[in-house]
Amino acid sequence: MSATLLELENVNAFYGKSHILQNVSLTVGEGEVVALLGRNGSGRSTTLKSVLGLCSVHSGEIRFQGKPIQRQATYKLAKLGIAYVPEDRRIFPNLTIGENLRLAALAGRKGNWTEKRIYEYFAVLGERRDKPAKLSGGEQQMLAIARALVANPSIILLDEPMEGLAPLIARNVEDVVRRIRDEGNTILLVEQNAEVAMSLSNRGYILSNGRVMASGRIAELRADAAAMQRYLAV
Ligand SMILES: Nc1ncnc2c1ncn2[C@@H]1O[C@H](COP(=O)(O)OP(=O)(O)OP(=O)(O)O)[C@@H](O)[C@H]1O
Ligand SMILES: [Mg+2]
Repeated sequence: MSATLLELENVNAFYGKSHILQNVSLTVGEGEVVALLGRNGSGRSTTLKSVLGLCSVHSGEIRFQGKPIQRQATYKLAKLGIAYVPEDRRIFPNLTIGENLRLAALAGRKGNWTEKRIYEYFAVLGERRDKPAKLSGGEQQMLAIARALVANPSIILLDEPMEGLAPLIARNVEDVVRRIRDEGNTILLVEQNAEVAMSLSNRGYILSNGRVMASGRIAELRADAAAMQRYLAV
């Protein structure tokens, strides 16, 4: 077993008065890719947001490297080593690609991932580094992932990286995620396509109505036909 990096224990999270996450518990070990599976509205993004402090956690505990983090300011989490790629990507289109990357690097930590290495890894970003980041969906997603990497995180929370992309482009992004995984990065992954998510992951949690309904190694989840059918319809 690898050391636990991120741990949620009985997390109850709210948007205003809406109680969304109900006693969610999960762990992510160093070097693991863990999938959050479930239908639309099941609470997958909210689980990521609870770690980032983007919804209110009324009870339960969230620990990173063994220390509680739910009272940390969101900007401090990047310095601790937590990177977040939100569903909506949040690229700054009026800044250049390089400026987008340098802002993320400043917010994060020093490490192997430099702006230069990003351009080697993502040739399409390198070619246009000094151009405003008015990009196609696939390019935006590459930049969003690149921004996470350049912060040299210990864990990347990745929310639907292939969402809304044409199939060929989605495959490119999937290949990038696979490559990042193969380099030993730790990822908590939300991906709508359960097959794709499971092919990228070591373990998974199935959410429904803000609760964890099943969890385990991918092979165990696959074997749980009832849960797969009921909560994922695959
Ligand atoms: N800002 C918000 N305010 C109030 N309710 C919200 C907010 N964001 C999400 N919700 C509700 O919380 C529940 C869980 O949403 P969440 O975004 O976590 O779902 P999800 O599993 O990521 O699915 P999808 O991304 O497909 O919507 C849903 O019922 C959703 O309507
Ligand atoms: Mg979502």
